[in-house]
Amino acid sequence: MNKLILNIEQAKEKINKNIYGHFAEHLGRCIYEGFWVGEDSEIPNTRGIRNDVIEALREINIPVLRWPGGCFADEYHWKDGVGPREERTTIVNNHWGGVTENNHFGTHEFMDLCDLLDTEPYISGNLGSGTIREMQEWVDYMTHDGESPMSDWRKENGRKEPWDLKYFGVGNENWGCGGNMRPEYYADKYKNYQTYINDHGDNKIFKIACGSHDSNYHWTEVLMEEAADKMDGLSLHYYTVPGDEWENKGSATDFDQNEWYITLKKAMYMDELITKHSTIMDKYDPEKKVALIVDEWGTWYDVEPGTNPGFLYQQNTLRDALVAGIHLNIFNQHADRVKMANIAQTANVLQAMVLTDEEDMIVTPTYYVFKMFKVHQEALQIPIYLETEKYKEIPKLSVSASKNEQGEVNITICNLDPENEAKIETVINAIKANEVEAKILSSDNLNDHNTFENPDKVKPEGFDKFSMEGQKLVGEIPSSSVVLLTLK
Ligand code: AHR
Repeated sequence: MNKLILNIEQAKEKINKNIYGHFAEHLGRCIYEGFWVGEDSEIPNTRGIRNDVIEALREINIPVLRWPGGCFADEYHWKDGVGPREERTTIVNNHWGGVTENNHFGTHEFMDLCDLLDTEPYISGNLGSGTIREMQEWVDYMTHDGESPMSDWRKENGRKEPWDLKYFGVGNENWGCGGNMRPEYYADKYKNYQTYINDHGDNKIFKIACGSHDSNYHWTEVLMEEAADKMDGLSLHYYTVPGDEWENKGSATDFDQNEWYITLKKAMYMDELITKHSTIMDKYDPEKKVALIVDEWGTWYDVEPGTNPGFLYQQNTLRDALVAGIHLNIFNQHADRVKMANIAQTANVLQAMVLTDEEDMIVTPTYYVFKMFKVHQEALQIPIYLETEKYKEIPKLSVSASKNEQGEVNITICNLDPENEAKIETVINAIKANEVEAKILSSDNLNDHNTFENPDKVKPEGFDKFSMEGQKLVGEIPSSSVVLLTLK
């Protein structure tokens, strides 16, 4: 038996909706052929952006979208991507395969995409190979109201009003693809570049410094010591990459239990990373003014080189849905410090939400986890006491809970055990609700996934295995499943 104890009166910390953020990079088929097909395409589109993709993504309430990279960001020169499309400079995407891009998807098209998705833009600026002036002018171009060379140019290019732009990243992975810098060197550059990022009118920029990856705690320490007072957020990148521990590299659609176990351990590690990076941040910023921004996360298998047509494509299965559930539960639990997280990446790349071909679009099991978990956006996190059985040495359950403005309580639970169901008894103090609604995402096998031929193989269904018995919510969930319980 697994036991959860929730005290509704302890619900205090707001879960920032941006924890449910996304990331779209110029990589493989994410932008071109994913979102963007161009106005002349036979695929139904709105000003060049695929209608089916927009329609699907609006359903999951994407609060914030990061662009243009990733490693692409530190080689992107924004001026190449504005003005009449036929006159735009063709570029080489050096980081992702040396393919040429016609730059038809640039600043205006990205802002248009954000409008269509009703999401906030988060732009990553180029610190690695771009100049301070270039970064300053990009922010001016997007946000300056009134007369100035950059806002005049924006108007000439068809956009009269400035855009609302809140989130701006000053470089990406500058310890690696963004320039191979030492933290001390990047900290100096960060302070230098951010000086010239100006707030115009009512537009206030939330500045995000490039943070660490994985357990590079030294980077976090140096950035906090040197520049905490000049940033609003510090990033952290961590991917669940099980490949290097597999003895026999499997395929992304043929996981065995050992591969699942390794993946699970690596996914759960996110909790330790956030705890440790947050502890370092607390030392310099006890009031938690600087947010931890996990702006890249997700599974990265790298196991199918021969079937990797568009760079970092991998089949998304029920296994990925469970990994997403684990991560979102962890972010909810760390809502006091984690204010944004962006899954990599929205379309056709890594842990994608949607997969497209020339005619059609399907959604992945991970998409459904975002759809189920969106109930937590802006709700108050409820601390949970969890007594769980183990799957090998790993806790069998991953959970989080929140209370929304209407007083409804939502509990999201993943049963990580691929073989056995989990019996759950939840004691809820101060509960007024007496009705429970449940949804489940599950399937027979961890490798099950949606295909263009069978797009509904893995999708959520109603579930009636839970009931309220006084203050107790009692029930059972099957192996490898993600469950949402709503108490009304
Ligand atoms: O998401 C793919 C890549 O992973 C990004 O470009 C980079 O920032 C990270 O290493």
